[in-house]
Amino acid sequence: MTDAEIPRTGALSILARCDELATFSTLPDGLIRRVYLSDEHRAVNELAGRWMIEAGMSTWQDAAGNQCGRLEGRTPGLPALLLGSHLDTVPSAGRYDGILGVLIAIAAVDRIHTSGLDLPFALEVVAFGDEEGTRFGRALLGSRALAGTFDPAWLDLTDENGTSLRDAYTAFGLDSDRLGDAARSPASLVGYLEAHIEQGPYLEEAGHALGIVSTIAGARRFAITVIGHAGHSGTPFDRRHDALAGASEIIGLIERTAREAGLIATVGHLEVYPNAVNVIPGRVELSLDLRAEFDADRDAVWHDLSDGMTAICERRGLTVSTRQTHGAPAVACSPRLREAIARGIASTEHPEPLLLLSRAGHDGMAVADVTDVAMLFVRCRGGVSHHPDEHVLECDVAVATDAFEAAVRALAAPPAPALPTATPAAPPTATP
Ligand code: GLV
Ligand code: MN
Ligand code: MN
Repeated sequence: MTDAEIPRTGALSILARCDELATFSTLPDGLIRRVYLSDEHRAVNELAGRWMIEAGMSTWQDAAGNQCGRLEGRTPGLPALLLGSHLDTVPSAGRYDGILGVLIAIAAVDRIHTSGLDLPFALEVVAFGDEEGTRFGRALLGSRALAGTFDPAWLDLTDENGTSLRDAYTAFGLDSDRLGDAARSPASLVGYLEAHIEQGPYLEEAGHALGIVSTIAGARRFAITVIGHAGHSGTPFDRRHDALAGASEIIGLIERTAREAGLIATVGHLEVYPNAVNVIPGRVELSLDLRAEFDADRDAVWHDLSDGMTAICERRGLTVSTRQTHGAPAVACSPRLREAIARGIASTEHPEPLLLLSRAGHDGMAVADVTDVAMLFVRCRGGVSHHPDEHVLECDVAVATDAFEAAVRALAAPPAPALPTATPAAPPTATP
């Protein structure tokens, strides 16, 4: 099939678009890193905006740099069903996390527009600019702005080059004093649907292409600083205050405590000072990302960890300080929208879908502050994500797009008799 013969809203075209977006990166050698308010962000917004226009939408970039498109419903100005996901990435990312959801949403709108369906609501696609928090260390900046929960204090956050979020908005051509313009009122919205790769192994293990999200796990992130004394590597052990040795013990404690409590914790970032082969580390900064289905479990583990870290540091003659950099409560997906997704899936050949906890964070966590949210999960190979090996099957993208489109149509249709409840996926607490 030549490029010209590939249907614009089919899986092959969606995957080709993922490949095209993957070329906008600050990393060499085909690796992907695309952060909020960067030149690459501007470029993917332009491209996604062009695809939105082809799909029949009017487009704009909102005050927070989210790329938006709208297809009017039966009459102009109706409340909108939001569809979307994010276009930013982690460093060394895959090409589907977030991106696939944006492209499935555009394809679904395109099909509905082409079919001439007259919806009782408008459709809007939002390609969020910051879900990952890669640049400023605070996730969900785009979706928080849309939900009207953006805290102006975040404007003083800085990136690794010392550029403040405020200055980054200015450089992107946005006015940080007008961020409030991105906020949506509950009355202007019907709900939010997001398709996303599972980023976990359960769909693949069960032999299912699609799943429905029950809850998005609540997350808290912390910056932890351990301070000791730098010194010569000839110093005897009993005279040292080695911040890295203390931090290593803390990392072990974090893994042990989280495992025992059945939740997930990750130390993914470490800075060692002065970071020299013959100098005892005097200061270490580490990150902690803590996630659980229930906020109370997550908070109880954080409480135990705080006590444990203090005890380790006291024993080693170190000091420790912690600062929360991100907090998002667990979000239960809306039964009404879950039912629409179940109907969408049922309209395909797919077997009864699995119900899955999302351990990954999503824009829906922020959007839930302003409207109901629900998510469709798509199988990804080996559950691998946040890695260049992220992979989806063309047939899965095809059935996901059909199901997503059908879910939108189901929301427009009169209520039908209830479907059987989706099967919960087991085991709910295993770590991918
Ligand atoms: C985003 O992908 C997250 O779960 O941190
Ligand atoms: Mn991600
Ligand atoms: Mn994502």
